[in-house]
Amino acid sequence: MRILGIETSCDETAAAVLDWPLVRVRSSVVASQVDLHARYGGVVPELASRRHLERLGPVIDEALDRAATSLQELDAIAVTCGPGLVGALTVGVAAAKSLSLALALPLIGVNHVEGHIYAAFLDHPDIVLPAVVLIVSGAHTDLLVMHGRGAYEMLGRTRDDAAGEAFDKAARALGFAYPGGPAIEQAARLPRASRGAGRTDAVALPLPFPDEASFDFSFSGLKTAVLRAAGRSAGSPADIAAAFQDAVTRVLVDKTMRAARTRGARTIIVTGGVAANALLRSRMAEAAGRAGIPLHVPPLALCTDNAAMIAAAGADHLSRGECSSLRLGAYADMDITAPIPETQVGVPRNGG
Ligand code: KG4
Ligand code: ZN
Repeated sequence: MRILGIETSCDETAAAVLDWPLVRVRSSVVASQVDLHARYGGVVPELASRRHLERLGPVIDEALDRAATSLQELDAIAVTCGPGLVGALTVGVAAAKSLSLALALPLIGVNHVEGHIYAAFLDHPDIVLPAVVLIVSGAHTDLLVMHGRGAYEMLGRTRDDAAGEAFDKAARALGFAYPGGPAIEQAARLPRASRGAGRTDAVALPLPFPDEASFDFSFSGLKTAVLRAAGRSAGSPADIAAAFQDAVTRVLVDKTMRAARTRGARTIIVTGGVAANALLRSRMAEAAGRAGIPLHVPPLALCTDNAAMIAAAGADHLSRGECSSLRLGAYADMDITAPIPETQVGVPRNGG
């Protein structure tokens, strides 16, 4: 099956063409809007929707071109239908529904968070389950168990800010550019001894919500501590950035490893934009190695928002006989443990 994936849930306009179950990414095009939103220090929903509308057509054309594929050679259309910014999502969903109807192809709505998980399968289609999955992005910090394809159990999530959001807010407090994750990582970059890089022990920051009894996260207290430290110049911005990154990654690794041990995970998956963080990747690799549990972290380009991961998740649903009706909408909130709205089982085609 050759599937076109479309992703417009936030500030990346993306399209990709994938062969499934071969899992060959024929093309993956991502047009970032980071420049558009940077001056506001965060994503402006209305601007994001308009930019998606301008860019999505050309991005789909480019994905087809790079994949050396015509619309007629496609077998299905997958699109992110939530969670995310409703206006932004609507642009992708409307485009996908139009293509599905015009080409008489099955349409499948995909949960963006499940898409992030499938980024790991693009790299390693044979991942052994159950897996403990940590999804850390600008909007999500979810810790869950993947028991099987499409079968998830939520263990914990953030009670306030998402991990990426915490990076973005801390960066803002320290005067770094948006998006904050890469800026903080760069400011804090090891080795610590080198000039300009931050020392984790120069500033005392609290460990965010270390509560052993819970798999939930909370980053707002840490954010406040960063604001206070920055306000009274308790350390250089690089030092505060290093201490912040140290605290966040410590808690993410601790809770993920505790979940993996107690839930008998045969694999650990870490995914989402914050999984691009080198310190998180290396600490997680070290801890998983010590526990003897294989770890899968997608390559950088697949950790952040892209449409290849959406195509992969959609293809897997389709291979189980699921597709969406043309009533598919855009949903700001979606629960990965619940079925996707407007899903039909055993109906192979729309429009035809
Ligand atoms: O998954 P993603 O591209 O979009 C969402 O679905 O939210 O994640 C974006 C988030 C932003 O908050 C960004 O600051 C963070 O991921 N991020 C990072 C790094 N690269 C991106 N956080 C920490 N370290 C990084 N290297
Ligand atoms: Zn995302």
